[in-house]
Amino acid sequence: MSIFEGKTAIVTGGVSGIGYATVKHFLKQNIQNVAILDLDDAKNVTQGLRNTFTKQNIVFIKADVTKKEQVKSAFDEVISKFNFVDFVVANAGVLREKDYELTINVNLLGLSHTIYTAIDVMNKDKGRGGIIVSIASVAGLNGFYGMPVYSATKHGVIGLNRCFGTDYFFNKYGIKFLTVCPGFTDTAILDDLENRLSDGTLDATLQARSVMAFQTADSVGLCITEIINSGKNGSVWIVDDGKTREITLQKYSL
Ligand SMILES: NC(=O)c1ccc[n+]([C@@H]2O[C@H](COP(=O)([O-])OP(=O)(O)OC[C@H]3O[C@@H](n4cnc5c(N)ncnc54)[C@H](O)[C@@H]3O)[C@@H](O)[C@H]2O)c1
Repeated sequence: MSIFEGKTAIVTGGVSGIGYATVKHFLKQNIQNVAILDLDDAKNVTQGLRNTFTKQNIVFIKADVTKKEQVKSAFDEVISKFNFVDFVVANAGVLREKDYELTINVNLLGLSHTIYTAIDVMNKDKGRGGIIVSIASVAGLNGFYGMPVYSATKHGVIGLNRCFGTDYFFNKYGIKFLTVCPGFTDTAILDDLENRLSDGTLDATLQARSVMAFQTADSVGLCITEIINSGKNGSVWIVDDGKTREITLQKYSL
C-alpha cells in the first residue's frame, strides 16, 4: 500500500511545472484528496486532472502565498472538506531578479506562511502529523550570480528547514521536514530570462543554460514522491537529471 493512499495533500504553485507534476504523481500513487493552491487556474488544469483521476478529489483554491490570511483560509477550507492534511509541498516560487521584493515575498515569506500554517493544522495535537516538503533549488546551495536574490531566498528555504527538521520540532509536532533542491528543470520559471535576471548577467546565464541538460518537471515530481517515501526528517536532496541524491550540509563547531 502506498504511503499516499487515503491521504490529503496541499501543493502550492500546483497548476504549473514542478508543482503540477507533483500533484499528478501523488494522484498516480492513489492519494485520496489533493488541493492545489495557486494564483489562478486559467488553463483549467484541475478539471483536466479530474477527467483522468476520476475517483480522487482534486480541488483548486485561489490563494496568493504572500498573503497570510489567504493561506490560512485555504488551509481551513481543506480541513473543512477533508478533515486532515498529511502532506504539504511548499513549492510556489518566482524568479524575478528585477523585482527582488516579489522574489523574497513569494519564495521566502510565502513559504514561511505556508510552513507555519501547515504546522498549525498538521501538528499531532490538532491533526495527525505528516510531511512538509519545501522546494528550494541548487541555487540555494551554490548560488548563481545571475540570480543573487533568488539564490538568497533558496538559501533561506534551506535554512528554515535546517531549523524545523530537527528532533525538537519532530517530537513537538510529529511532522517531518524535507528539502528538495532541483537542478535546472524545463518549466515556465525559466522562460523569458531577459526579464528575470539581474542586469549584466544574462549572457553568462544564457551561455550556461545552452550547455546544461534540463530535466523534465515530470521527473522531478516523481522524485519528490520517492523522497517523501524514504526521506528522514531534516534531510536535504538534490534532484538533478531526474535522479535523487541526499546531501549532508556542513555543521561548524562553535
Ligand atoms: N525550473 C527550475 O529550473 C527550478 C529549479 C530549482 C527550483 N525550482 C523551484 O521550483 C518551484 C516551482 O517552480 P517551477 O519551475 O515549476 O515554475 P513554474 O513557474 O512553472 O511554477 C511556479 C508556480 O508558482 C505559482 N506562484 C507564483 N507566485 C505565487 C504566489 N504568490 N502564490 C501562489 N502561487 C504562486 C505560479 O502561478 C506557478 O504555478 C519554485 O519554487 C522554483 O523556485 C525551479
